[in-house]
Amino acid sequence: MDLGNADMTGAHRTRGSAALAGAVAPALAHWRNRQDPRDHAQLTRDLRTRLGGHAAAVEAGLRVVVSPEVRRLTSLAESVDGGSPEHSRRVGRAAEAVAARMGLDAHFIALIRDAAPLHDVGKLEIPMSVLDKPGALTTRERVVMQRHAEAGQAICDAAGDDAVLRMAARIARSHHERWDGRGYPDGLSFDRIPLAARIVAVVDVYDALVAERPYKGAWSPSRALEFLRENAGTQFDPDVVEAFVSLAERDELGA
Ligand SMILES: [Fe+2]
Ligand SMILES: [Fe+2]
Repeated sequence: MDLGNADMTGAHRTRGSAALAGAVAPALAHWRNRQDPRDHAQLTRDLRTRLGGHAAAVEAGLRVVVSPEVRRLTSLAESVDGGSPEHSRRVGRAAEAVAARMGLDAHFIALIRDAAPLHDVGKLEIPMSVLDKPGALTTRERVVMQRHAEAGQAICDAAGDDAVLRMAARIARSHHERWDGRGYPDGLSFDRIPLAARIVAVVDVYDALVAERPYKGAWSPSRALEFLRENAGTQFDPDVVEAFVSLAERDELGA
C-alpha cells in the first residue's frame, strides 16, 4: 500500500504522526458532515495534500494514544460506513454478543468487539459518488465498491500488528464472503471463511437492513430476521444465524 509521504521512522515519526493527526481532523470533520457542500473529490485532494494519502492518515492515528490504532481507525471507519457512527459501534456490540452466545473464548469475544467496527474501513478508498449513490449500483460501480474488502485489509495491515488489527484485517477482507462460496473477494466457503468474518457478515447485514440507507428504506426487525433465516446455509453460516436470531428474539444484541 502506498504510504505517501508519511514519515514512519524513529523519533521523527512520533512528531510527524502527531502533526498529521492534527492536520487530518478538520478534513475528516467535514467528511463526516454530509451537509458539507464540498464533494468527495475535493476532500480527497485535501487529505492527499495534507497527508500524502489516506494510508498516511491511518498511520498518523495509530501512534497518538493508548491503542490509538483501533480508536483512530474506528473513527475513520465510522465516517464512511452506513452514514452513521452508530452503525459500526452496533456491529461491534452485536458481534461481541453473538460470539459470547456461540460459546467462544473470552479473548476472541474481546477482540471481535473492537475489530468488528473496522469491517468497512476500506470504504475510505471508495469514491463518495459510489458510496452514497441512491438506488442500485451499475456493474462497474459494484466492482469499485467491492474493492473495499481488500482495501480494508490493506489499511488494517498498514495500521499496526496488534491482535485487534490482525482480526480486523481478516474481517475487512472476508466479511462479504458467502457460506456457499459465492461471495467476494476470494470465493471462500464454509469454515474456510474466518469465523470473525462469518459473524460480522450476519451482524452487518442485519444492521443495514433495519436502517434507512440511501439506496433503501428501513426494514422491520422481524422482516430482517426472516431474511437471515432464509439465507442461513447459503449466504450465512447457519450457526451464526441461529445465535443471532436467539439473541435478537430476547433483545440481547447489545445494540
Ligand atoms: Fe462491507
Ligand atoms: Fe457495515
